[in-house]
Amino acid sequence: MKIAITGGAGFIGSHLAAAYLERGDEVAIIDNLSTGYIQNIQYLMDNPAYKSRLDVKIDTILNPRVTAELIGPADLVFHLAAAVGVRYIIENPLESIKTNIQGTEIVLDLCSRFDKKVLIASSSEVYGKHLHAPLVETDNVIYGPSTKSRWSYAASKLMDEFTALAYHSTKGLKVVITRLFNTVGPRQTGAYGMVIPRFVEQALKNMPITVYGDGTQTRTFTFVNDVVHVLMELMKHQQAYGEVFNIGGTEEISIYDLAQKIVNKTNSNSVIEKIPYEQAFKKDFEDMQRRVPSIEKVKSFIGFEPMTDLDTILAHTIDYIRKTLQ
Ligand SMILES: NC(=O)c1ccc[n+]([C@@H]2O[C@H](COP(=O)([O-])OP(=O)(O)OC[C@H]3O[C@@H](n4cnc5c(N)ncnc54)[C@H](O)[C@@H]3O)[C@@H](O)[C@H]2O)c1
Repeated sequence: MKIAITGGAGFIGSHLAAAYLERGDEVAIIDNLSTGYIQNIQYLMDNPAYKSRLDVKIDTILNPRVTAELIGPADLVFHLAAAVGVRYIIENPLESIKTNIQGTEIVLDLCSRFDKKVLIASSSEVYGKHLHAPLVETDNVIYGPSTKSRWSYAASKLMDEFTALAYHSTKGLKVVITRLFNTVGPRQTGAYGMVIPRFVEQALKNMPITVYGDGTQTRTFTFVNDVVHVLMELMKHQQAYGEVFNIGGTEEISIYDLAQKIVNKTNSNSVIEKIPYEQAFKKDFEDMQRRVPSIEKVKSFIGFEPMTDLDTILAHTIDYIRKTLQ
């Protein structure tokens, strides 16, 4: 099979590319390396067994000609390219909105014209400021005002979902929408505000671990290999087209406890420092206090259960970051 992956040099995209190449499929990637890294896929490009089956285009999905060259020959399309990370979104608001809205529209339009099966990566952020758990796919969304630019990520991902569902209902596009909750593991970078790689790097360097806010906010985490498995499985299920799925872990932990766990697991001398949001981000920043998915729907479609617990996820991630720091 021919697999096209937008954002394939990114964290999740590079793992997905590796999984398909391992299976013997052909993979074509487009990535502008804005938050992705060529090193994420260099080992795939250098592997003699994969060389003839891997095509990498360093370009933007906002270029419809190049994106059409990627999507035209594909059997399955995974649309992962996006501006991601709270810090990145706040620092690059206009470019983020263009990539996430225009970029997705270009990808969906091409998939519709070429009659391709496509999966789009949405986010748990679309739920906004809910406090209840677990979050169900049909829950309402609650956002802050447009003057707080962090909500543009949630709103742009929600717009992507609306657009995908509209292509499905009006043009019969075979599209699967996945709302990913914090996905973690090797190759994720802490550079754009992702919490686990940031804490692990600080712990391994014995630097203060910087917890934003009071640390009582909670999250769940899913291992990237589990997520890749689910994305690949969902695309095999005809009934999944036109549907929205939460994909995430169910082990809830506060960010302060996460920091403490990472200190213990790395035998670090780091102290945990609480930094007010206004200091870490721009004034008026808002965080989500809690984000726990209901994964009943994806379980009922493909029998998915997150297989990797937080301790194992942390062990893999610490091991990886330790090697990159050597
Ligand atoms: N990692 C998570 O916890 C998480 C959670 C929710 C949703 N998601 C979604 O999953 C997808 C992948 O995220 P990730 O964690 O791998 O992040 P990532 O930043 O590693 O991957 C995104 C990739 O898209 C590329 N990209 C950005 N703009 C582009 C453009 N205009 N043209 C081509 N490439 C472009 C980046 O260079 C990067 O390689 C994203 O759509 C993200 O919104 C991820």
